[in-house]
Amino acid sequence: MGAGPAGLLLSHLLATNGIESVVVENRSREYCEARQRAGVLEGGTAELLRSVGLGKRLDAIGMEHGGIYLQFDGSRHYVDFRSLTDGRTVTVYAQTEVVKDLIAARLAAGGAIEFSATSVSVSDVASDRPVLSYVDADGTPRSVSCDVIAGCDGFHGICRPLIPEISVYERTYPYAWLGVLADAVPSTDELIYSRHESGFALYSMRSPSVSRLYLQVAPDEKLEEWSDDRIWSELQKRFAVDGWSVAEGPVREKSVTPMRSFVSGPMRYGRLFLAGDAAHIVPPTGAKGLNLALSDVVVLANALRAALLSGSWELADAYSDTCLRRVWRATHFSWWMTSMLHVAPGADAFEAQLQLSQLRYVTSSRAQATALAENYTGYRPARLQT
Ligand code: FAD
Ligand code: PHB
Repeated sequence: MGAGPAGLLLSHLLATNGIESVVVENRSREYCEARQRAGVLEGGTAELLRSVGLGKRLDAIGMEHGGIYLQFDGSRHYVDFRSLTDGRTVTVYAQTEVVKDLIAARLAAGGAIEFSATSVSVSDVASDRPVLSYVDADGTPRSVSCDVIAGCDGFHGICRPLIPEISVYERTYPYAWLGVLADAVPSTDELIYSRHESGFALYSMRSPSVSRLYLQVAPDEKLEEWSDDRIWSELQKRFAVDGWSVAEGPVREKSVTPMRSFVSGPMRYGRLFLAGDAAHIVPPTGAKGLNLALSDVVVLANALRAALLSGSWELADAYSDTCLRRVWRATHFSWWMTSMLHVAPGADAFEAQLQLSQLRYVTSSRAQATALAENYTGYRPARLQT
């Protein structure tokens, strides 16, 4: 259920093991391919995509990055992932491109993706033959009798509520991100995470001519109040360092994203398995959400292969615990990055001094910088069994 990165990659991995699947999605293909979201792939995620035949466009247009800048108190500090780890990097490759690659690969292999489905529902998950029902884009009611159902239907999906006695751990943050996509040549070689008295700002990119920028704003911020001029002047202020400025250009798209940490478990009930945002979300400051969704799917593909091809359900029984260990590591890292870099409304001078002290520590202690680098580039990635 769901043609986001998680559902599509799972379908692709199952097909490589000869396991049939149908992906049911309530949005159109165009909508799924255009939804602006993540940008950063951990080294292990990029390797995974290459290893399953999805590396061609990634290698052609993905941009490898060997570190990030942390900016505070008007100066910029480089955290060099390559030298802090055993040469690890990340790749800036938009989620829109990952989704396009996956849809193209599934359709080329004759895979079934039902876009624009309506009345999607799931039943009998506690039995050996759960059923997925929907009305297809032509208006024909369909019903699929399955071995298992993977709930990859995102945070607002219908699968998570089907797990009885699920535990939820949650934190909402008192701020949101205003995301901007602009036709502007990035004026930086690496991503910049900036803590400024007026709030956090992030400088990312999509290509050598497109910048992706974010500003901390209020959770109820009104998009209409952000003219292009106001956006650029706020970005110039929050990224200011001597002798450098943000290259400006036409703003193509803008949106406001709330910030939340959310973990639910168990991620399985009977023959229903949750993966990705359907089970957990992190604030985007650690660039973890897409990577976590894809690593759940690796664990799930390994488990389903053993269960459906060899009748061995041990990996499936361990699925939730295996995933949640990585989920909690990423949840802590994302919370830590978020708390260190944002200015909470009403935060006092004591809090500001703690943040600045932490930032000085991360940028001066090799041990602290290594902790950031190994989490950002991906701590203990899940490995696909072949
Ligand atoms: P989704 O992408 O949400 O896919 C779920 C799919 O299910 C959707 O297509 C939806 O339409 C469909 N669906 C929902 N309900 C139903 C239903 N009832 N029936 C059928 N289909 C349904 N992550 C990173 O790793 N790095 C980053 O740099 C990063 N930056 C981000 C920046 C922003 C602004 C945002 C919003 C997110 C960011 N993320 C990032 C997070 C990342 O985008 C998500 O974690 C990722 O999309 C999760 O993939 P998914 O497949 O689990 O869920
Ligand atoms: C992005 O490029 O969209 C992006 C990069 C890093 C983040 C979040 C989003 O931490």
